[in-house]
Amino acid sequence: MYRTDLARIHHEGFGGFARRAAPGLLAILRTSNIRPGSLVVDLGCGSGIWPARLDLAGYRAIGIDQSRAFVRLARTVAPRCQLRVGSVHRVALPRCQAVTALGEVLSYLPAPLFGATFRRVARALTPGGVFVFDIMIGQPHPANYRNWIASGRWAVGVAVRENPARTRLVRQIDTFWREGRGYRRRREIHRLRLANPRDVRAGLRATGFRCRTVTGYGRYPLAPGRLGFVAIKRA
Ligand SMILES: C[S@@+](CC[C@H](N)C(=O)[O-])C[C@H]1O[C@@H](n2cnc3c(N)ncnc32)[C@H](O)[C@@H]1O
Repeated sequence: MYRTDLARIHHEGFGGFARRAAPGLLAILRTSNIRPGSLVVDLGCGSGIWPARLDLAGYRAIGIDQSRAFVRLARTVAPRCQLRVGSVHRVALPRCQAVTALGEVLSYLPAPLFGATFRRVARALTPGGVFVFDIMIGQPHPANYRNWIASGRWAVGVAVRENPARTRLVRQIDTFWREGRGYRRRREIHRLRLANPRDVRAGLRATGFRCRTVTGYGRYPLAPGRLGFVAIKRA
C-alpha cells in the first residue's frame, strides 16, 4: 500500500488534510495539557506533514508508517523528526505523552487488531496522555462510486465500494504518473473497515481511556463517514 507513485500523489494532492487539521490538533494537545517538549508518536504518518508541524510547534515527534515510499518522503518533509518504517500493530511504541493516527489509519486494521492497538497505545502513554485518531464509520447508505483527480504530471482514479452490511470498504486506486510521452499506470487495492462508534468507545473505555468524539479538528471538518476520537488515558 502507498507505493512510490501513490505516496507522491497523496502528498501533492491530498496533503491538505494534515495541513488544515494541524491547528485544531495542536489546540487539542494544548487543552489536554500536552505541552511543547512532549513526545508525540504519529501512527501512519504518511508524508510527514503533521510530524513537521509538531516539530515547528516545539514538540518532539516520531512518525511511523508501513509504507517505505511515504517514510522516504517524510524524511524530506520532516527532516528533524524520527521516522520509521513499521506497522502500527507491531512496532515498539516508546513512552510518550500523545499518540495520533490521522486520516483513517486505524481503519486499515482488521477488527482483532483494533483492541490490541488500543492496549498498546494505553501502555505507551503516560497518565493523562492523549490518543487522537479518526476512523471510517460509513454513511447512511453504502458508498458505491467512482471519482478521479488530475494535476500536471499525474492523475488518480478511485472506485469505492462498500459491502451492503456497511462493515467494509474497498478502494481500487489507479494512478497515472507522467513518464516521457506517456503515463505509468499502477493499481492498488485498499481494504478498510467501517467501525461502529459504540464499539470503539467501549473498546477505549475498556483499555483505560475516557473519550469524546469530534466531527472535525478545530475548524476543519472531517469528511462524511469519518469520526474523530479524543481519548485521555485515565491516571
Ligand atoms: C490516508 S493515509 C493518511 C496519512 C497521514 N496520516 C495524513 O493524514 O496525511 C493512511 C496512512 O495509514 C498508513 N497505514 C495503514 N495501515 C498501516 C499500518 N498497519 N501500520 C502503519 N501505517 C499504516 C498508510 O501507509 C498511510 O500512510
